Amino acid sequence: HDGVRINPSILAADFANMEASLARIQGADFVHVDVMDNHFVPNLTFGPQMVRRIQETSTVPLDVHLMIEAPERWAPEYAELGAASVTFHLEASAEPVTLARRLRAMGARAGVAVKPATPVENLYDVLDEFDQILVMTVEPGFGGQSFMPETMPKLTALAAEARRRGSAVWLQVDGGIGESTIAQAAEAGADTFVAGSAVFGASDPDAAITSLRAAAAS
Ligand code: DX5
Ligand code: ZN
Repeated sequence: HDGVRINPSILAADFANMEASLARIQGADFVHVDVMDNHFVPNLTFGPQMVRRIQETSTVPLDVHLMIEAPERWAPEYAELGAASVTFHLEASAEPVTLARRLRAMGARAGVAVKPATPVENLYDVLDEFDQILVMTVEPGFGGQSFMPETMPKLTALAAEARRRGSAVWLQVDGGIGESTIAQAAEAGADTFVAGSAVFGASDPDAAITSLRAAAAS
């Protein structure tokens, strides 16, 4: 896969036909699962009970994105139910490194996410405590928003730091990623791309994944 990962967000899928939706993204690297609590973000989705059934149903590993307060309380449950990757928000976490270590000890990849206005300099010295850093390219909370190009300098800087330190951390982008924006995110240093409406809004989601992958690699 040329080091490019495409993670469709099921936020844009049909919640009443989740099994069928999952069957249409067999070419994905991970299924991106947006957990929202109506506190950290002004929207509400689902919790561990729903995610457990998605985990049991999906043949593609889960990439859980927690847009919630108190991730220390909830994140371990998602590692426990078998999510391949669990990402919590830096803004919501009192002890991000401690939580990442706990998730890794449970066998999950540990991710930390930052909202568009949150600086990333404080992460430079702890890059290797995480398996992925998610730079939000919209304000978290809703699918279908427009990509914010002003977030790209943070990716460029993170990519340079990762290279300088020989870090294998993955750099993920999420929000407004599609045919017309994925190349600039890849150019800035992203290697892992979340896409909701661009995949599930397409008539053939697996074909959309293939063409996003090609656009990111070009
Ligand atoms: C937004 C979510 C995203 C969302 C992306 O808060 O974190 O994962 O599903 O949707 P699109 O790709 O439609 O912008
Ligand atoms: Zn997300």
